[in-house]
Amino acid sequence: MMTVVNELSTWMSAAFQQVYPAADLSQVKLDVVPTADEQFGDYQCNAAMGLARLLKMKPRDIAQAVVDGVAKPDCVERLEVAGAGFLNFYLKAEWLAQYVEGLQKDERMGVSSPGVGRTVIMDYSSPNIAKPMHIGHIRSTVIGNAIDRLHRLLGYRVIADNHFGDWGTQFGIMIMGYRNFVNAEALKTSPIEELERVYRESYEQSQKDEAWLNQARTELVKLQAGDPENLALWNKFIELSKLEFDKIYGRLGVRFDLERGESFYNGRLAGVIQGLIDRTIAEESEGALVVRLEEEKLPLSIVRKSDGGFNYAATDLATVLSRVEEFNPESIVYVTDERQQLHFRQVFAICRRMGVTVRLEHVWFGLMRLPEGTFSTRQGNVIKLERLLDEAEARALAIVKETSPEMSPEQQKEVARAVGIGAIKYADLSQNPQSMITFTWEKALALDGNSAPYLQYAYARIASVQDKYRERFPGKDPSAYPIRLTEPVERKLAIRLVRFGDSVAQAAAAYRPNYLADYLYDLAQVYSSFYQTVPFLKAEEGVRESRVRLCALVAKTLRMGLNLLGIETPERI
Ligand code: ARG
Repeated sequence: MMTVVNELSTWMSAAFQQVYPAADLSQVKLDVVPTADEQFGDYQCNAAMGLARLLKMKPRDIAQAVVDGVAKPDCVERLEVAGAGFLNFYLKAEWLAQYVEGLQKDERMGVSSPGVGRTVIMDYSSPNIAKPMHIGHIRSTVIGNAIDRLHRLLGYRVIADNHFGDWGTQFGIMIMGYRNFVNAEALKTSPIEELERVYRESYEQSQKDEAWLNQARTELVKLQAGDPENLALWNKFIELSKLEFDKIYGRLGVRFDLERGESFYNGRLAGVIQGLIDRTIAEESEGALVVRLEEEKLPLSIVRKSDGGFNYAATDLATVLSRVEEFNPESIVYVTDERQQLHFRQVFAICRRMGVTVRLEHVWFGLMRLPEGTFSTRQGNVIKLERLLDEAEARALAIVKETSPEMSPEQQKEVARAVGIGAIKYADLSQNPQSMITFTWEKALALDGNSAPYLQYAYARIASVQDKYRERFPGKDPSAYPIRLTEPVERKLAIRLVRFGDSVAQAAAAYRPNYLADYLYDLAQVYSSFYQTVPFLKAEEGVRESRVRLCALVAKTLRMGLNLLGIETPERI
């Protein structure tokens, strides 16, 4: 199915072209977008403002010329010029009803497939081995996974790659810590915690003890040179860390196509750096090898340290080249916290110098603020993710016990799992990733606010309307009756349903899952006013079935939308 935005935008471009054949329209954004306020129609275009400058005409005159000179698209009832020169589109009710009929038959609920034949590599989560996962990795996992799912639904071939930090300087410190401090018992019962403890202790030692630090460096060099004993330890750290990470990914419902750590690219580093030298992109400076990025207005980037070691930038350059060669992607998307912005700007700039044309995107997010006492924090932003998830499930269980006392304890637990994990994810995904947010349990678990439980609850309630219909009218099939949009609130609801495909496309294109969250919250609210203002089961035959069908479509949309955010939708809450 073609989304309404696509349909109207295509018409809009053709219309402007027809009325102003001589103008170079490529310079102006001609998109039609959904209106926020229904008094300005269902969709709107503000291109006349942009065109006004180009054509040296008044925006209103430009808009009016289109209205007067071009036949309206089939789906449009009225096209009006408003305000400074906006074009407001009002859709035909019958057309809307027809479109909604189509949505019911469409498994994809109107989501188009612009991604077919296109590849995106998603680099997210990417924690560091033998170092604690911090809140940034959790956000990266949740946000990255939502962007991943959005692209998959749009037809892209997505390669989700967990780019572990498995080759950093931490391993020297780690090896020293392990040899001196490890407690075998603790390593068995909670390996990652023990590795963290050992790491931290060794790190503290290295800060006050020069000899320790030097020994750690020596161990690192030995590891890099392939010393079997250190390599064995390194492998052990990776194995233990991955086991622990996998538990978390399992609980979050996240899976990767590739799990290539930084070490995967070791063999390529020297060649890539040599290439930079050969093409005079990099030069020596005080023993180090650097790329000057004045042209890009960026500080210089060190790609090889003065001790000859390759750094994070070198690894990322090698990674880009390897990914391009192996997968020929259209874009590579990195999801990390805001502190890596400069790093990626530099890496991307160097890639451009090397002639890499793949689209490179850094999707960054701010760090989430955790009010004191919210989580068992160890230090700074480091939290025990497992405990956070446990706590979410426990708090959700208390709610489920209250809302559904009749459920069996196992069922309650299962629902609480979906609600608790959903709440954590949604608290993150419903925010603009780049704004500073503070997490609170009250907000994340609110049954009456913009939260996962609210949406999951709405979903379950809608499912029960359908159950009731089946009970009252056994054997009747509502789809034998057409969709009718007579009441204003029904029309409003239909417009929301029709916008799902566009909201998915928009969230993916902007790498902003919160656009989809906003959409779902709005849909649930419109549904709730629909539910409150018109009768369902008591309505006359035909109207009743049409309403039950609208309910089913809202349920389908909520389910698909929440699943795109990685959130489950239990049938009952
Ligand atoms: N391991 C890094 C960190 O924890 C994130 C890696 C992001 N991906 C990349 N290709 N640099 O900060």
